[in-house]
Amino acid sequence: MKKLNWGILATGKIAETVAKSMKFLESDKENNMELLAVASRSKDKAEEFAKRHEIKRAYGSYEELVSDPDIDVVYIATPMSCHFDNTKLCLNAGKHVLCEKSVTLKAGEFKELMDLAKEKGLFLMEAMWTKCQPAFNKAKEWVESGKVGSIKMIKADFSNAVPYDEKDRLFINSLGGGAILDLGVYPITFVSTFLGTHPEEIHTYSHIGRTAVDYNDSIILKYKDAYGITFCGFDFENDNKAIIVGDKGRIVMGNWFHCTAEAALFDDMGNLVDKQVLPFKFNGYEYEIEEVNKCIREGKLESDIIPHSDTLDIMKIMETCLTQAGVEYK
Ligand SMILES: NC(=O)c1ccc[n+]([C@@H]2O[C@H](COP(=O)([O-])OP(=O)(O)OC[C@H]3O[C@@H](n4cnc5c(N)ncnc54)[C@H](OP(=O)(O)O)[C@@H]3O)[C@@H](O)[C@H]2O)c1
Repeated sequence: MKKLNWGILATGKIAETVAKSMKFLESDKENNMELLAVASRSKDKAEEFAKRHEIKRAYGSYEELVSDPDIDVVYIATPMSCHFDNTKLCLNAGKHVLCEKSVTLKAGEFKELMDLAKEKGLFLMEAMWTKCQPAFNKAKEWVESGKVGSIKMIKADFSNAVPYDEKDRLFINSLGGGAILDLGVYPITFVSTFLGTHPEEIHTYSHIGRTAVDYNDSIILKYKDAYGITFCGFDFENDNKAIIVGDKGRIVMGNWFHCTAEAALFDDMGNLVDKQVLPFKFNGYEYEIEEVNKCIREGKLESDIIPHSDTLDIMKIMETCLTQAGVEYK
């Protein structure tokens, strides 16, 4: 089995966390991978990152990384507005891609990328890490085996307090800032996983902040027989739970539902039936990396867990939400 060589494109906050996961997986024979290179727009930053994570190669431009013939797959960790160009750069250089969420600013951009990946015979996946995690899979298993019956309502929130910082990408329109693309993507993905990616109606109520991006949003996805009710934002803290309510019972994913290791199942009378604590092997990001390694080795161009069609449909939902919110990326 040939070793898979990874490169990381960008050296921001999430790149630090995911690099640790990749180093963790390096010691796992089954994954047979190496985090071989990192690239930054600044050579100094790339070298410091490489030193911190014991990465052999450091590049001072993204172009140099994708020109490295030894790199098989690139993890893109730039702000949203850069993903389209960065992914295109990698695919055109013949590299497989794992790109951070939200994968693009517009659904049409992702469509172009998925077509390009197929044309080039390369693997492409949005880094929707939550869908690869054990607790999320447990909830899915309970739903699929009928434990909650027919789903009537899903409620999922993701909101935390982020102090205003004019340099933080979250607040910057030209970098694709705002709550829907950064945080809303998790509850919307959660609802879509269980109720489908084609709600009959979408209703978005938003607070647009002083920097022309959405600081918080209430989004209702209405399905034929069920509702998906979500909240996202960075104005204030919330308890960030997710609840799946069916006619036979309910599932509760605790605080920070998108990265929790716990899932609880209750019957229709509110009695606790099962509670599963499924701790991460490392920091939670290892599962999405393992999924990429597995898919590439199997010669797949997309993941069954995070298929292109779901990513595209969720981008379309978010595009509608952004239009309703009045956010326009310039
Ligand atoms: N999965 C998760 O749990 C999770 C968590 C947080 C964020 N994310 C996603 O990861 C992506 C990055 O988020 P982050 O919080 O890591 O952002 P960040 O700390 O601001 O880092 C972004 C990095 O992108 C590079 N970059 C390229 N062009 C840039 C530009 N014009 N302005 C600013 N930076 C630029 C920079 O690296 P260089 O200077 O080295 O080139 C920068 O350090 C986003 O898509 C976000 O939604 C995912």
